[in-house]
Amino acid sequence: MRPLFIRRARQLVTLAGSSAAPLVREKMNDLQIIENGSVWIERGVIIAVGPDDELAHRFADRIGEADVIDARGKTVTPGLIDPHTHLVYAGSREHEWTMRLRGATYMEIMNAGGGIHATTKATREASEEMLYEESKRRLDLFLLHGVTTVEAKSGYGLSFEGEIKQLEVAKRLHDTHPVDVVSTFLGAHAVPPEWKDDRDGYIRLIMEVMIPEVSRRGLAEFNDVFCERGVFTPDEARRILEAGKAHGLTPKIHADEIEPYGGAELAAEVGAISADHLLRASDEGLRRMAERGVIGVLLPGTAFFLMTQAADARRLIDNGVPVALATDCNPGSSPTVSLPLVMSLACLHMRMTPAEALAAATINAAHAIGRSHVIGSLEPGKKADLAIFNAANYMQIMYYYGVNHTEMVIKDGKIVVN
Ligand code: NIG
Ligand code: FE
Repeated sequence: MRPLFIRRARQLVTLAGSSAAPLVREKMNDLQIIENGSVWIERGVIIAVGPDDELAHRFADRIGEADVIDARGKTVTPGLIDPHTHLVYAGSREHEWTMRLRGATYMEIMNAGGGIHATTKATREASEEMLYEESKRRLDLFLLHGVTTVEAKSGYGLSFEGEIKQLEVAKRLHDTHPVDVVSTFLGAHAVPPEWKDDRDGYIRLIMEVMIPEVSRRGLAEFNDVFCERGVFTPDEARRILEAGKAHGLTPKIHADEIEPYGGAELAAEVGAISADHLLRASDEGLRRMAERGVIGVLLPGTAFFLMTQAADARRLIDNGVPVALATDCNPGSSPTVSLPLVMSLACLHMRMTPAEALAAATINAAHAIGRSHVIGSLEPGKKADLAIFNAANYMQIMYYYGVNHTEMVIKDGKIVVN
């Protein structure tokens, strides 16, 4: 494999120096940008990052053996990282969207057997092959938007076989697709209809059967719970997250999306790596998250698509909570794969600066999935995952919103989108 030499980027956004701890407060605006910057890559790993003249000098006698990419006029960033998706599912729910546009609420639709239950039915019925093909199409689209790693949750099986099937598809996607897929077990996404009269029975199935098997087979690293009134209570979520911890699964939590429910507090208590959504998180909850370094994964695409007020990102950042951004890609509340659009929404609806939004979709997102030592910034020794945008600076990626500026994507040192 020849070395790859990316040269003379107008802006090379490195985000260097934050692999050990996520960026917080004002530091989220410090992107560590190199003008006229270059990157030397060998065997899928970043070897050197710096001003072009410096690297041209250092590698002078080897430039001839390298593939050279001319990035003049372009903005180069770490490959974008999406730390919260429901990538693997079957079917779609545009008819429910129309119902919501006519006034029905997300929870009303779910309680009437639609919502998560509708996608669970479709996902259970889909063959593993169909599920793989449908999800692969989405993963292709993620890649075309500059995303090189996604987290993917189960949660549309809601039975032993169904959850395992989803996680196996995610693993197969990880093994066969350029995009890296990091798996999260979300057996506690909803209580399925067949368990509705014995919810504790379902919770015990999760804790005593599903979690041990998922962990034994290495099918997930994280364990997530949809903790919301009418779904799982904080006490139930605590039991499920503790059971995961006992089997080596790190807690994550869908927290305080629809009403304040103690989700942020619980995330801090159980030592979750992230608490996600947080539209209604309490001040006390955020304070405890900041204290324990729990990352707040914000999902402004979901608020946009559910037509609700987005999370108060400024309140999180001002309280010292490290913030990451994600699409929440799912057929009910956020059917998008465009992390760049989510970054625009983070600016427009949550008043994050473009710099904060980019930090939140790169290094802080890497922290939210426990990958900050390998991805999320452009530094020697890290994976050569990069996105090249046809933009004169990083702000334009978001400022010209709703447009895909991705021109080239490099994954593990290989050009995968051109
Ligand atoms: O993160 N909040 C719960 N789960 C997803 C939605 C899943 C669905 O509607 O299918 C979310 O928004
Ligand atoms: Fe979600």
